Amino acid sequence: MGDPIPDHVPREMVSDFSLFTSPGMQRVSNGDPHGAAARVHAGPPVFYSLHNTRDGRGTWLRTRAKDQRKVLQDPDTFSSNRSIFASALGDDWPLIPLELDPPAHGIFRSLLNPLFSPKRVMALEASIRAQAITIVEKISVSGKSCEVMKDFAIPFTVGVFLQFLGLPNERLDVFVGWAKALLHGDKVQRSAAARSILEFIDELAALRRKEPAGDFMTFVVQAQIDSRLLAENEVRGIGVLLFVAGLDTVAAAIGFDLAHLARNPKDQNLLRSEPERIVLATEELLRAYSTVQMIRVATKDIDFEGAPIRKGDYVCCATMIANRDPAEFEDPNVIDLAREDNCHTAFAAGPHRCLGSHLARREIIIGLEEWLSHIPHFRIKEGTAPITHGGHVFGIENLVLEWS
Ligand code: HEM
Repeated sequence: MGDPIPDHVPREMVSDFSLFTSPGMQRVSNGDPHGAAARVHAGPPVFYSLHNTRDGRGTWLRTRAKDQRKVLQDPDTFSSNRSIFASALGDDWPLIPLELDPPAHGIFRSLLNPLFSPKRVMALEASIRAQAITIVEKISVSGKSCEVMKDFAIPFTVGVFLQFLGLPNERLDVFVGWAKALLHGDKVQRSAAARSILEFIDELAALRRKEPAGDFMTFVVQAQIDSRLLAENEVRGIGVLLFVAGLDTVAAAIGFDLAHLARNPKDQNLLRSEPERIVLATEELLRAYSTVQMIRVATKDIDFEGAPIRKGDYVCCATMIANRDPAEFEDPNVIDLAREDNCHTAFAAGPHRCLGSHLARREIIIGLEEWLSHIPHFRIKEGTAPITHGGHVFGIENLVLEWS
């Protein structure tokens, strides 16, 4: 059950549209959560969506890309301070930098930016590609079909992430299990997964304090702000965020992209015959199959196009809605792999713009390049149907592809 409608919300502004519960958003076979999200553009630019968080809270929902950008670029009015992860454990420390507002946000962001720079990502390119090749070669010799998420997208993205953190691949399955339970499990599974992730990060931080290794966690435990080492909760906030931010998102993007190419042979042929188009096509696929819904908390009362947003209200900026805005994109529901000037917000806008976007892009591009160059023309396996879901991060499962 969600919250009741707050007294200040006019009844005529309440909608039962939700990124969690509307038709197409639940876990369904052959669903189209992006198409379902796009339909809100037929309605008003702002409404109150009941049950629009995992816990069933109501949020204001702004549909237009330009209005979402205003929210995301105004952290004084729309704060990111929520302690979502820690609250599952009865604590209240923030994920860093995600749940910090300026000026603290900028201090941590400057500390972390160099680790995710384009130059740093370029240095990882060869090993990211090597991981992709190892996995797809195994798939291509072992038969004429596979389940993309389990066999390719998840092991590939988790492998890259572990390599980034400087960890061996052997605990891959355990990490994937934690990430899944945290993002999609019920309340009990979520808090058990949160505890496991936290224990793991705490242990890793303690180890790197004793035995520095020149990896990401060593950087974090040795980093200084204002001539002091980071506090324990700050190390946790950074470690845990990195653990959860890059796992599901990249795998989901690869899954939606391969599902699109399986269903659209013309697009698949185009990228096969002209692989140099994959870079541009990736931007269109990121736009059309955006996966992240962001939430902000109003810090003061503010009226917006008749919506009386009150201090403490949640405001949702859903990338999958902004990126199908007809005022911003011509024929937004047409997926045109040659679309140019594609100013999408799949990686957000404003100060919290995705720190890992360069890494994510390279992973997706390399993943598609290696898949297409190793696997012949593929389609959704007859008699199977991919399962999709909406929520805070849209996703796809049971994507069984076959080829001959
Ligand atoms: C396709 C893949 C990805 C998508 C669509 C995505 C999307 C986003 C979005 C929309 C935000 C803003 C969240 C908010 O403001 O509430 C964000 C923030 C963030 N992302 Fe990503 N992300 C992806 C991959 C990654 C990867 C691979 C990493 C790191 C390894 C990463 C690390 C982060 C971090 C640390 C933040 C917080 C930035 C800040 O608060 O300043 N992301 N991401």
